[in-house]
Amino acid sequence: MITLALSKGRILKDTLPLLAKMGIVPTEDLDKTRKLIIPTTRADIQLLVVRATDVPVYVAQGGADMGIVGKDVLMEQGGDNQFELLDLQIARCKLMVAAPVGHQRQSHRLRVATKYVNVAQDYFASKGEQVDLIKLYGSMELAPLVGMADCIVDLVDTGNTLRANGLEPTEHIADISSRLVVNSLAYKRQHASLQALVNDLATQVAAANEGAVS
Ligand code: ATP
Ligand code: PRP
Repeated sequence: MITLALSKGRILKDTLPLLAKMGIVPTEDLDKTRKLIIPTTRADIQLLVVRATDVPVYVAQGGADMGIVGKDVLMEQGGDNQFELLDLQIARCKLMVAAPVGHQRQSHRLRVATKYVNVAQDYFASKGEQVDLIKLYGSMELAPLVGMADCIVDLVDTGNTLRANGLEPTEHIADISSRLVVNSLAYKRQHASLQALVNDLATQVAAANEGAVS
């Protein structure tokens, strides 16, 4: 049995069509079921649907053999006991610094609101800048609006959320997409079956990005 941990939300939405092309379809309605281990049409593959930030934990601990998770989460949390095998090129966006439109450079230490505190710390440190970090768990865009922070570090896709809140991107930190990760011990022990799945996924990703129908 191969156990694959998927991130709830938009990554799941983008992952299911890729899996379906490989004949892997959940046998439960994911919008309705209360089951946490989801069988699929492939008797040897089951899915765990968990919070994005929990995926690397399930994979690290061997609760899942593989996982699909955003590069942003891997950058922030690191990935113990796991390798990143494939860029699935889904849920693409950018990790950016953003600030109120027309902002002035502050003379005090920059206050940065983000859920990506490790990434932000490293990014500003790499520029030789010491900052005060404010850890939030969502809606980072709010922090500068209420005077709590000078800028944010967050994901940007269309830029609509920034624009709707009078913010603009100021610095690009990294391009983000979803990655396939594998537990390092499982990859040794079940190499043939896991590698076959990786190869199938790689083929689907290549086809999807050529616009080819398979
Ligand atoms: P949780 O609810 O567990 O805190 P979340 O709210 O971050 O998770 P999502 O918003 O679905 O969950 O984001 C999951 C992943 O999707 C992110 O880690 C990132 O890789 C990607 N992602 C997030 N926002 C966007 C976006 N606007 N465009 C494209 N990809 C995104
Ligand atoms: C993500 C991210 C931004 C927004 C960016 O939030 O945190 O707020 O998407 O996308 P855009 O540039 O296309 O507007 P999400 O919608 O996932 O909400 P959440 O952070 O509250 O989960």
